Amino acid sequence: MKKILMVLVLGGCLLSGSLLIAGADKKEAAQAYDEDTYGPEAPIVWVKPVKSVVFEHKIHTMDAGLACDSCHDDLFEMESGAAEEKDDFTMATLYKGGYCGSCHDGSTSFASNTRCASCHIGVRGHDRLNNKGGTATKSH
Ligand code: HEC
Ligand code: HEC
Ligand code: HEC
Repeated sequence: MKKILMVLVLGGCLLSGSLLIAGADKKEAAQAYDEDTYGPEAPIVWVKPVKSVVFEHKIHTMDAGLACDSCHDDLFEMESGAAEEKDDFTMATLYKGGYCGSCHDGSTSFASNTRCASCHIGVRGHDRLNNKGGTATKSH
């Protein structure tokens, strides 16, 4: 994810045309969102088995108030991409209460067999994130 963050920051530089302005932007973002408290700011995006599913720490920690240990390390490792290396990272497992389905079961939060597009941003969403991710995820 570090790499993606770099790309976003570099992208910001190109857009603003100035390293100084990009630096200021970065400081502001750091104040608004504290990664130590809420987990990584950059969205986690999986492309296996399907492209693309997105996960945002901010929605879960800062907004929904979940503690780190409600997911780490029982449901997820603290390593982006780890889950998608596993064969059971599928809807069938979610429906049985695994991974995201541990909460996205229709009681703690919306069920995994509804609102597909909330998690599945698809190929177009993936491209959007990679091209101008920083701004795309800043809506409050
Ligand atoms: C609702 C579930 C959930 C909560 C709560 C949560 N995380 Fe995560 N976290 C994830 C998922 C999912 C991943 C990606 C794992 C994967 O791809 O296999 C992840 C990955 C990470 C990573 C690795 C990022 C990278 O780029 O490799 C770090 C660091 C992390 N989380 C820190 C935290 C911290 C700190 C907290 C508490 C403030 C927290 N997480 C709370 C679900 C959660
Ligand atoms: C520990 C419980 C928990 C886990 C695990 C979890 N979520 Fe969530 N998720 C929530 C809660 C709580 C909300 C806040 C919305 C709500 O109250 O329904 C939320 C909200 C979301 C939203 C925002 C929907 C919207 O637009 O309002 C998305 C998208 C989402 N989760 C995706 C995921 C994905 C993908 C995973 C697995 C990688 C995951 N979540 C794992 C509890 C969880
Ligand atoms: C709470 C988040 C979430 C919701 C809601 C969700 N999915 Fe998924 N989906 C995932 C995750 C996580 C994966 C595995 C990662 C990947 O494939 O990129 C996945 C994978 C898949 C796959 C490939 C693996 C498999 O099971 O065959 C399909 C197809 C799929 N989802 C369809 C759907 C459909 C259709 C809906 C709505 C009825 C839906 N998903 C709703 C999170 C979600």
